[in-house]
Amino acid sequence: MEVDFADYKNISYTKAGKFEETRFEKIHNVIFQTSNEASILVAQEIASLIREKELLNQPCVLGLATGSSPIRLYEELVRMHKEEGLSFANVITFNLDEYYPMEKSNIQSYYYFMHEHLFNHVDILQENINIPDGKVNAENLYQYCIDYELKIKDVGGLDFQLLGIGRTGHIGFNEPGSHLNSGTRIITLDHLTRVDAAPAFLGIDNVPRKAITMGIGTVLSAKRIILLAWGINKSDIIRQTIEGNISANVPATYLQQHENTTFILDKEASSELTRVKTPWLVTSCVWTEDLKLKAVVWLSELLEKPFLKLTDKDYNDNGMSGLLTEEGSAYDMNIKMFNKIQHTITGWPGGKPNADDSKRPERAFPAKKRIIIFSPHPDDDVISMGGTFDRLVEQGHDVHVAYQTSGNIAVSDEEALKFAEITRSLEPTSLNANGIINFLNNKKDNDTLDSVDVRKLKGAIRKSESLAATRYLGLQDKNVHFLNLPFYETGTIKKGNLTQNDIQIMKDIIDEIKPHQIYAAGDLADPHGTHKVCLDALFIALKQLKTNEYMDDCWVWLYRGAWHEWESYEIEMAVPMSPDQILKKRHAIFYHQSQKDGVMFQGDDSREFWVRAEDRNRLTAKKYNDLGLADYAAIEAFKRYHF
Ligand code: F6R
Repeated sequence: MEVDFADYKNISYTKAGKFEETRFEKIHNVIFQTSNEASILVAQEIASLIREKELLNQPCVLGLATGSSPIRLYEELVRMHKEEGLSFANVITFNLDEYYPMEKSNIQSYYYFMHEHLFNHVDILQENINIPDGKVNAENLYQYCIDYELKIKDVGGLDFQLLGIGRTGHIGFNEPGSHLNSGTRIITLDHLTRVDAAPAFLGIDNVPRKAITMGIGTVLSAKRIILLAWGINKSDIIRQTIEGNISANVPATYLQQHENTTFILDKEASSELTRVKTPWLVTSCVWTEDLKLKAVVWLSELLEKPFLKLTDKDYNDNGMSGLLTEEGSAYDMNIKMFNKIQHTITGWPGGKPNADDSKRPERAFPAKKRIIIFSPHPDDDVISMGGTFDRLVEQGHDVHVAYQTSGNIAVSDEEALKFAEITRSLEPTSLNANGIINFLNNKKDNDTLDSVDVRKLKGAIRKSESLAATRYLGLQDKNVHFLNLPFYETGTIKKGNLTQNDIQIMKDIIDEIKPHQIYAAGDLADPHGTHKVCLDALFIALKQLKTNEYMDDCWVWLYRGAWHEWESYEIEMAVPMSPDQILKKRHAIFYHQSQKDGVMFQGDDSREFWVRAEDRNRLTAKKYNDLGLADYAAIEAFKRYHF
C-alpha cells in the first residue's frame, strides 16, 4: 500500500468519510511500508512545530511517550539537532508516565529512557523537562498529580502529544476502565501490560504494579495528537480502536472524539483494518493473483466450506462479484485456487530429484543442495522447522545450521548455577566455577547485568543443547555454526544496533557455503525484536552478496518462530509431517532443556515451546484440510523471499 503523503495531515477526508475505503474508520490514520519512514515523517512534523513556535518566540509544549514505538523518532530528532541545527531551547516537555515506585537511576525508569534516547543529546533546558516522579511520597502523591496538571496549563497546554498504544488499549498508562475526563493520577497496571513489560525487567515479578500517568482528559486537551503503532502485535488493538465503538474497555477509543488526531501505522499494525484485511468489503479491488487467493481463503473460512463447494452466490453475497465477473464462474475460480494451494504441498522441501518441478515449490536440480538454516536463537530451527530440517537431512542434502545469537540472556540464574556447581564438584578449585557461583549467589534481584563469565556459561549451555538436538537430527558438528552476532551481546534485553561486523559474519558464512537454499526466521512478532534484527542482518548481507554468481541459484525460504504463523494464503511451501515425525521434532525440542519448564521469556502464551509448535503445525494442517485439501497430521509452512 502506497502512502499518500498529501493525505498525511488531511484529517477532514476521513472524518467526513469521503474515502469509500475508510468508511469503517473513526480515526484518521496513515499506513507506511516501514516504521522507519513513518518515524522520520513524524519527526519532521515535530521539528516544524518547534521551528514555528521559535519564530513566534513562543515555547513549544510537547507531551512525550516512552516504549519501543518512539525510539526511531527520537533518534531522528537527535540527528536533526546535530546535523540541521534543530534547537530544543524553546521546548518544554511533559512525559506521559512513570512506573511507581521507581528510582530515576534505574535503567528501567522512563526518566532514564528519555535521557538516554533524547534529552542527553539535545539542547533542552533541564528545567523544561517534566517526567512524573516515581519517588514521590504516597501522602504527597495526590497533590503532586494536581500540580503536574496545573503546570501543563500554566505553560499554555500541550501543543502536541505523542502516544504509543498498549495491547490493552492503554494510552499513557490509562488502562481499561479509565474515564474520559481523568487527569494525572496513580493507577494499577493491567496484567497484560505487566506481561509485556516483563522481559525488560527480567521477569514479571520485578515489574512494578503501579504507575503515575497523565489522564485521558490531559491527553485529549492537546492541540494535536499522533499515535504510533508498529508490528503485528498491535494489529488487533488498532482495529478495535479505529473501527470499534468508544468504550472505557479500550481507552484509546476516546481518541475518536479528538478532532486533530492521526494514527501512524506500519503495514503490520494496519493488517487487521477492514480496508487492508478484506478490501473487497469496502470498495472495488484490483484483483492481483495474491489478492484472489487471500479472498477465496477468507470466503472459505467464513462460510466453513471447502474451496470446491463455494457457489456463485457465495461470491456475490460477500463483496466478490467483481472477481467472479473477471474469472467467469465460481467453478473455474474454485479449481484454480484449489490447485494453487495444492501445489504448495511437498514432502521434498529440497526439491524432488528427477521429477517435473514446474508445479512444485522447489527446483529438482541440483538433487543434492547446499543449505543453511539460520536460527536467530539456539532453538528456533527445531521449534519452527524441525520436521523440514529432519527431511532435508534424510534426503541427503548438505545441511548447515547457523545460530545467529548466543541466546545467553534466556538462561536462568538457577540453570547456570546448576552447571557451575557440577563443574565445581568435578574440579573443586576451578576459579571460573567458584567465581560464577559467588557472583550468582550475590546477585541482587532485578540486577540485570551478568558478569562476562556468567554470560559465557549461559551461552555454553545453549550451545551444548543445540549440538545435542542437531546430532539427534543426524547432523555432524562441523555443520553447526555459532555466529554469536555482536549486536546481541549487551548482557541485557536491550540489544545494540546492527553494525557491519554483524553483516560481515553473515556474509562470511553464506560465502563459505554458497547455499542453494537458505531458511530464515521471518517471524517479526517475537517479543524482544531479536528475530527482526537477525532477519535484517540476513537481508543486508544478501543485498551485499547479490552480485556473486552463486547467488543466482540461491532461494530463500522464511519460516515463522514460536510466536506466529503464516496465514494459509501466504504459504508457498507446506511440508506435511507424519505422526512419527511430530514425535521426532518434539524430542529435538526437548534437548533445549534450559528453555523448558518455566522458561524466562514466556510472553503471554503459557504453553511450552514444543506444545506451541505442535498446536501450530496441527492448526496449519487443519486449515488446509478445511479448505478441502488432504488431511495431514501437521504441516510446517514457508514463504519465499525474493531478493
Ligand atoms: C509509554 C506509554 C505507553 C506505551 C505503550 C506502547 O510512555 O505511555 O502507553 O506507549 O505501552 O509501548 P511500546 O511502544 O513499547 O509498544
